[in-house]
Amino acid sequence: MLSGGASPHAIIRVTSGSNVPDTITITDDRTGKTVTVPITDGVFPASAVRELDPALYIYDPAYMQTAACKSAITYLDGDAGILRHRGYPIEQLAEHSTYLEVAYLLLNGELPNAVQLDRWKTDVTQHTFIHENMRKRFVDGFHYDAHPMGMFISAVAALGTFYNDAKNIDDKASRDKQILRLVAKMPTLASMCHRFSVGLPFVYPDNDLSFPGNFLNMMWKIGDYQVDPRLERAMDVLFILHADHEQNCGTTAMRVVGSSHADPYTSCSAAASALGGPLHGGANEGVVRMLADIGHMDNVPAFIEEVKSGKGGRLMGFGHRVYKNYDPRATIIKKAAYDVFEVTGKNPLLDIALKLEETALNDEYFISRKLYPNVDFYSGLIYQAMGFPISMFTVLFAIPRTVGWLAHWQELLADKDQKISRPRQWYSGADARDYVPMASR
Ligand code: CMC
Repeated sequence: MLSGGASPHAIIRVTSGSNVPDTITITDDRTGKTVTVPITDGVFPASAVRELDPALYIYDPAYMQTAACKSAITYLDGDAGILRHRGYPIEQLAEHSTYLEVAYLLLNGELPNAVQLDRWKTDVTQHTFIHENMRKRFVDGFHYDAHPMGMFISAVAALGTFYNDAKNIDDKASRDKQILRLVAKMPTLASMCHRFSVGLPFVYPDNDLSFPGNFLNMMWKIGDYQVDPRLERAMDVLFILHADHEQNCGTTAMRVVGSSHADPYTSCSAAASALGGPLHGGANEGVVRMLADIGHMDNVPAFIEEVKSGKGGRLMGFGHRVYKNYDPRATIIKKAAYDVFEVTGKNPLLDIALKLEETALNDEYFISRKLYPNVDFYSGLIYQAMGFPISMFTVLFAIPRTVGWLAHWQELLADKDQKISRPRQWYSGADARDYVPMASR
């Protein structure tokens, strides 16, 4: 059987039976040398290839078939549509937990008891403020129409310059302190970027409010603004759903940059940069722009035809590298959207989104490629209904994902198998040739 991604040159002989050993044997036909290594949990070590020939490499663009690390944080079964953090199903966490509790779980491996949770909440709350120079000298220096995500990415890196102890990554106390600072200050930075971009005065953190409540307050407070508890809960659920998603592009950036022993602010900034791309976390912006462009439910079939023909770009918010089933986060977000619309009124783009989903899920193009709605398909509709400008959507993703990046950063630094990330290449350029003087070119 040829697997989906195999090259036409690959010859795969299948001899499966009930008593097959959990090993794989690879033969280098050039030398006749054979190596047999164990398969554990569906993974075998690439060192087998090194044993065969240290100059032999595996060509795997985009790491489609490569497990670059062992991780105990998040389990994802893309075919079954399963997502669990430290063993706990995302559905249960979204229903019963809070973002700060999930953050503790991701970082520490276990749910906190009441005393631990109380301590963690107090610690986070005490680190929400940001040095005045960050706002007055750094954020105020941006151009008036700077994109909030660009501001956010730069601000996260700049934040590290206020903490010279951040480079002490071998010191657990220092690592814990930076983690606390980063988790706590992200909402403050995010709201600062927003208020700068709309010309409103900055609102300082209110430490009497919850983590999501404080964020909403910093975003929207003008006069006697009061946080609506239903929107506060919806924000918390959205934060939970975006907290981690194993080795996605942003987390991989975090691990790659962190593997050079860069400080966590720089690494988080790199991760946020990766997240900002339209194929990754930037897709939530793309979805709402796409729905607005479609304009009416009646235009959906024509739009789907354009996507299929390759002329209309991709159906944003659909498809996933790992999920070949409905993204479980999308199911929860779709339900949360209705809860939010009860408070805010329905987002008029919802009908177009529902029609788009229905049309795509019944279309052979999407069925055969196993393309389903992902986390970004409905999140933008909620954000928009809550009043967030489209340019803030990816920043909203980055706030909670920070804890996922940091959990992976901790795990990376503790992993004795890890070294500085440094893949090999398949050189395809010119052979050696002599320099050509300018007059002869
Ligand atoms: N619309 C139309 N066709 C698609 C889409 C889509 N959204 N996604 C994949 N395809 C097609 C693609 O053209 C290809 O078709 P063919 O085999 O005929 O060439 C096939 O499906 C496989 O696509 P791929 O690009 O090889 O798949 P990938 O695993 O490299 O890409 C993806 C995954 C998420 C980048 C892609 O599905 C996509 O671009 N989706 C739209 C952007 C989006 O919603 N991103 C958010 C992802 S979830 C949030 C997060 O980043 O964590």
